[in-house]
Amino acid sequence: MQPTQRGSQQQMPPTPALVFDVPKLDTFLTRFEQALAEHWPHSVLSYSFKTNSLPWLLSYMRQRGIWAEVVSDTEYELALALGYTPDRIIFNGPIKGRDRLWAAMLQGTVVNLDAKREVEWAAALARQQPETPLAVGLRVNWDVNEYCPGESTSDGADSRFGFSPASGELDAAISTLRDAGIQIAGLHMHRNSLTQSVDVFRAAATVARDLISSRGLELDWVDIGGGFFGAEQGHPTFADYVLAIREVLEEVIDPARTRLVVEPGASLVAVPLEFHASVLDVKQVKDHTFVVTDASRTNIDPLFRRKRPFQYDLETNATHTRPLQTIGGYTCMEDDRLMDIEDEPALEIGDRIVFYKVGGYTMCYQSKFFIEFPPAVYIRTHEEELILVREKPSVSEYLQGQQWIPAGDHINAAANGKSQWLAPHL
Ligand SMILES: Cc1ncc(COP(=O)(O)O)c(C=O)c1O
Repeated sequence: MQPTQRGSQQQMPPTPALVFDVPKLDTFLTRFEQALAEHWPHSVLSYSFKTNSLPWLLSYMRQRGIWAEVVSDTEYELALALGYTPDRIIFNGPIKGRDRLWAAMLQGTVVNLDAKREVEWAAALARQQPETPLAVGLRVNWDVNEYCPGESTSDGADSRFGFSPASGELDAAISTLRDAGIQIAGLHMHRNSLTQSVDVFRAAATVARDLISSRGLELDWVDIGGGFFGAEQGHPTFADYVLAIREVLEEVIDPARTRLVVEPGASLVAVPLEFHASVLDVKQVKDHTFVVTDASRTNIDPLFRRKRPFQYDLETNATHTRPLQTIGGYTCMEDDRLMDIEDEPALEIGDRIVFYKVGGYTMCYQSKFFIEFPPAVYIRTHEEELILVREKPSVSEYLQGQQWIPAGDHINAAANGKSQWLAPHL
């Protein structure tokens, strides 16, 4: 189906569909670029792949000169496949594989270690190649609640990431690496927080500052992580964060020599994504109105834990309102309900609902197939043109790479005492 024109001049995609608004995305990218250019020019803006790994988006980031921040071998390989060079990748996370880690260390990737086996593997590489200069960063485990009470996003206050200075594991990692002749070139400070306040980043910088001076570190980078607030207007701005971080770190490092690495995700891509849905049916059950749509909460709140209300627009010719309408999804789960709306136009079949600001941690958690395939994705260009960048998958694409015994062979497989769905080669 082709996009249609409705009401305003803006093109509308057939529903359900996700739409990335490129001008909005550019606004956020430019803001972060400018904040760094003004307050820490010797810096790296990387994008956290996990937040939304739509291939179009990742390619667009690369074209804009933004680096990749990846946390698995698979994400690393995706970055390479999309044309990122190893020296424009930040490699984080505790699940790196040994061979990928070694290749990354040898090819100029910014590597932050986050597991003891990675420290051992790095040391082993240094022993194998004593002439090759090697450098890594270490993720620091620090207690956000100690500095900013109530900010931790985990149930207990403790984070499970990084090496703890308090338990001695950070110093043990430093000694192992130094003994192997590896430079400790960076600290990685990422922590999510509840309010994304500037104070959390000031605290991260403070922990880094104290480690730099107490451990005598000469760093090439401080990676302050992601977790920034990215609103269309108001504070904190990206510049507020960079300035606060700089104020603290300047006490122990020269920003002209040590790079600040940032790895934002949601603050760049949440706002620019819209989700378009249509009303399929309107049902009355006692005094309750249910609006059945071709959207699902699994599309835009896949973990069912969103607390903030959605921002939305209704496109309808309705002439009266209803006191309460429940907007329901297409799945068979009773709790697949997107929102209750009060005193809003009485929706009818064919009306459109547009949900805004749904780009962060939505598409990446969406199942490959639950009743429906994930929706098509469009971009809206600066010229307000809609371009399809990902089709909704087809059944034949879904079946690609799968192995199964065709219908007629079930009986033979059962007779051989094998499960009927064993792959033929097993
Ligand atoms: C190591 C790391 N960097 C960056 C991010 C991006 O965070 P956000 O999307 O909140 O900016 C995350 C997300 O949890 C992360 O774990």
